[in-house]
Amino acid sequence: MKITFYGQNSLAIEVSGKYILVDPFISGNPLSKDKVDILKLKADYILLTHAHEDHILDAEAIAKNTGAKIVSNYEIAMHYQTKGIDVHPMNHGGNWNFDFGKVKYVNAVHTSSFPDGSYGGQPGGFVIEGEHKNIYIAGDTALTMDMKLIPMQTKLDLAILPIGDNFTMGIDDAIIASTFVDCEKVLGVHYDTFGFIEINHDEAKKKFFDAGKDLMLLEIGESIEL
Ligand code: NI
Ligand code: MN
Repeated sequence: MKITFYGQNSLAIEVSGKYILVDPFISGNPLSKDKVDILKLKADYILLTHAHEDHILDAEAIAKNTGAKIVSNYEIAMHYQTKGIDVHPMNHGGNWNFDFGKVKYVNAVHTSSFPDGSYGGQPGGFVIEGEHKNIYIAGDTALTMDMKLIPMQTKLDLAILPIGDNFTMGIDDAIIASTFVDCEKVLGVHYDTFGFIEINHDEAKKKFFDAGKDLMLLEIGESIEL
């Protein structure tokens, strides 16, 4: 499983020969818009955690360019189905076996409206099991006790957690989240894109290190292999 970071919560995952994009927000991200051409991205699936603009901005253009299927909660899936895009609706607690692995849509504590104010369902995160590797993409969320449910069923290899504070968990809560999901290897996301979520990288990494955990922060376009 190869994971590439494109800024904010935008990720590309290559697993079992399939290309998955998560929360594509690139053309409007000052940190990534000049580094990544959305029309060159490959996608078989686009996973959307919730309807906020900093998660869905490029989903429609990429889906129309690639023919990718959008996977999200029911309300977001219907929003894109009316635009002629192929969708797979899910909801909280549900699993589905895709051709690349198993996906579960899990709880997040946040909000979820489209940029025009229309209802985007309840926000979520994804647990993905594929190629004998298991990852948790928290999406935008507060620290929540529901995270403790995840390791009861899935031994995670990587937790992808928001760390930028203000709109989501900050560093201190993400360290607790890492304990709740029983995964000490964390990829930080949802930081630095806007003034409200700028963080000190060295301080963030030191806090994780001092807690016996490993925080990875990737450059735009940088990848890790699991
Ligand atoms: Ni959000
Ligand atoms: Mn966000």
